[in-house]
Amino acid sequence: MTDAANAGFTPRIFSGIQPSGGLTLGNYLGALKRFVEKQDEGIETIYCLVDMHAITVWQDPAKLRDQTREAAAGFIAAGIDPKRSILFNQSQVPGHAELGWILNCVARLGWMNRMTQFKDKAGKNAEAASLGLYAYPALMAADILLYHATMVPVGEDQKQHVELTRDIAAKFNHDFKVDFFPLPEPVIEGAATRVMSLRDGTKKMSKSDPSDASRINLTDDADAIAQKIRKARTDAEPLPETLAELKDRPEARNLVNIYAALASEAPETVLERFAGHGFGAFKPALAELAVATLSPISTEMKRLMADPAEIDRLLGQGAERADALARPILERTQDIVGMIRSRRG
Ligand code: AMP
Ligand code: TRP
Repeated sequence: MTDAANAGFTPRIFSGIQPSGGLTLGNYLGALKRFVEKQDEGIETIYCLVDMHAITVWQDPAKLRDQTREAAAGFIAAGIDPKRSILFNQSQVPGHAELGWILNCVARLGWMNRMTQFKDKAGKNAEAASLGLYAYPALMAADILLYHATMVPVGEDQKQHVELTRDIAAKFNHDFKVDFFPLPEPVIEGAATRVMSLRDGTKKMSKSDPSDASRINLTDDADAIAQKIRKARTDAEPLPETLAELKDRPEARNLVNIYAALASEAPETVLERFAGHGFGAFKPALAELAVATLSPISTEMKRLMADPAEIDRLLGQGAERADALARPILERTQDIVGMIRSRRG
């Protein structure tokens, strides 16, 4: 840990993914693959399917249930061990909503107004957005601070929210004259912190893009993965020797980054191998690597999803472990704020 403000706090990782659609290659490289690495480094890891965040925009109830189970299966298939990590769905640990309210009263409207994800998601008609969508980043701060987490692995798009979490934690500590919350750090690393659409190298790969060809889903089979890579938009130039030369070639840059992240290599190393080759050679190599990495995950996901009761049981166990960590921190927060815990037993 590099942040002096966190001296005295146990290193602890928290991150979350919204079960608002299937998982994509962007989620895998930007989040899941790194979640597994952190778990395997032996740090305490807590991973949450944030269903309360998902409903800030409309979700069909049956689909929300399916997607939550699918995401849980994706985590486990990608290597999250529900015994070593804590894996659960947010709504089952009431402390998220309870601390979320307290932090709503710490966060300032001026801070919320600067959040770019709200502006993107609310679009032109912000008057019609839900109040929850506006408060979303304060709930995210609660997710992280409820466990005194010190590190938050996320993709580039979530950096602003983690910084807001630090501001909220610092204001709480300052207002109540305590050193209670750590100031968590965003952990944004690897070659693919921002995986772009396969159809448009200037747009983020997203589960909500209307074009299925724009993304690789973790449930795609080998044929679908290979076909999407073959059809990915590119240019006619061969790959250059240096990354700098890819600056104005967003599609080419994206495919090189995806290759690097899948192979756990630096993009420079990938260019050393493929410089001078066109996409006729690069795409089949990328497709082969992607299929080799992703198709065992999709096979395992399908196996796990065939037993939804078992997934629910694992999530329930995770929620109990999460609640046991969260409860004392929530109670201390209530004490600090001046709430009488009249039901203390
Ligand atoms: P979401 O699917 O928006 O809940 O995002 C879950 C996690 O995946 C967050 O850490 C995001 O930053 C990350 N993520 C989502 N899409 C991408 C992408 N295209 N590239 C890299 N990371 C991503
Ligand atoms: N907002 C995150 C996203 O869309 C998901 C999320 C919710 C999260 N709570 C979190 C990520 C806490 C990290 C930590 O990707």
